[in-house]
Amino acid sequence: MKDIKLAPSLLSADFANLERDIRKCEQGGAEILHIDVMDGHFVPNITIGVPVVSAIRKVSDLLLDAHLMISEPDRYINDFAEAGADMISVHYEVCNHLHRTLSSIKSHGKQAGIVLNPLTPIELIYDAVEYCDFVLLMSVNPGFGGQSFINSFHNKCYKLKSFLVDNNLEHIDIQVDGGIKIDNVREVVASGANVIVSGSGIFNGDVVENLKLMRKKATSLL
Ligand code: DX5
Ligand code: ZN
Repeated sequence: MKDIKLAPSLLSADFANLERDIRKCEQGGAEILHIDVMDGHFVPNITIGVPVVSAIRKVSDLLLDAHLMISEPDRYINDFAEAGADMISVHYEVCNHLHRTLSSIKSHGKQAGIVLNPLTPIELIYDAVEYCDFVLLMSVNPGFGGQSFINSFHNKCYKLKSFLVDNNLEHIDIQVDGGIKIDNVREVVASGANVIVSGSGIFNGDVVENLKLMRKKATSLL
């Protein structure tokens, strides 16, 4: 099994004390900071953008993962890359020219990710998978933190994992995002995910303790 990476979603952090909360993520052993970018078009909510990624870059060496929930990601890839994101993911649902978009992310030396909404069929990206570094399977409808986990994830993740194994593509990470808590993380790992995004599951309560507990549960199968 692949190493587990924990990616706290800063959407649930205290925006007035972001640096303090980032330090807690570091202390708790997180590998990645997941940054949710929303435009009020592709998703109903508006969150944060390029200047915040630049500001975070200045205070942390953790991998920065920009999850772009925006209608026209091609227009902003350059900006997020220059701001210091290490990973940039785009939604399959808005990319008319996915190969071009993934190539553009990789041309900046960044990890490229394809994101699928909960009910977007996994088979649609089989031809694209070899051109990305990770696939993010949403387990809630994108737009808000604190929603309930949608079970369609498990079957989809299992199919993707099998596809990766059968096609010698196991270096590609499977990320899961939405409704992950300490008490259900084991199941998502069992289905094949190895990069775990969690917002309310980490930031509600003691961040350091939650991260340690989540890793313990997530790695209990390894
Ligand atoms: C939702 C975002 C998630 C969100 C997850 O659109 O992509 O990253 O912050 O929050 P929780 O873990 O609370 O479901
Ligand atoms: Zn996200």
